[in-house]
Amino acid sequence: MNSFELNKIMGAILGTCLVLLVTNFAAQAIFAPKKLDKPGFEIAVKEAAAAGAPAKEAPEVPIADLLKTASAEKGQAVSKKCAACHTFEKGGPNKVGPNLFGIVDEPRGQGRGGFNFSAAMKAKGGNWTVEDLNHFIKSPKTFIPGTAMGFAGISKDSERADLIAYLETLK
Ligand code: HEC
Repeated sequence: MNSFELNKIMGAILGTCLVLLVTNFAAQAIFAPKKLDKPGFEIAVKEAAAAGAPAKEAPEVPIADLLKTASAEKGQAVSKKCAACHTFEKGGPNKVGPNLFGIVDEPRGQGRGGFNFSAAMKAKGGNWTVEDLNHFIKSPKTFIPGTAMGFAGISKDSERADLIAYLETLK
């Protein structure tokens, strides 16, 4: 190998290095990472509004107001949610729960063909006013802790109003 040939080889190596160096600079200029203000990863998740603060409940609409626009017909359809445990016709049998014919303004936890009410229901006393029915159907266990009625409740105001309008027709 003569020195001329060696020069060519060295030149080739140096040339390659130069090309690499230039590409490296260019790449860094193009793909420069954006500097973050704070170290760490940026995660695009909105913080839950006022974390920890409980969501405000809408003020309760009085059942008397709701009943003004309620439909007993729709309420009869809603009563299917209760039909697994209750009958609604006059003289209907008790099932898991008591027959509910004429329940509006009746004494709580009494009569109903000798239905075996829970101690909690009997202890509550009073009559089934539309207000009480509204609260009970919304959340049975909140209105009467310890009730034997295993039903989560109906949260929709208009649905409960329709249902109570239907119960009012059962006289
Ligand atoms: C899983 C069965 C079940 C379902 C579903 C159910 N109930 Fe009841 N309900 C009961 C039981 C059991 C009792 C008796 C509760 C007690 O003694 O604590 C009861 C009691 C009641 C009472 C009190 C009756 C009285 O004479 O004091 C009312 C009113 C009532 N239910 C309405 C409803 C309505 C309206 C629905 C539908 C939205 C419904 N229930 C759905 C089981 C049920």
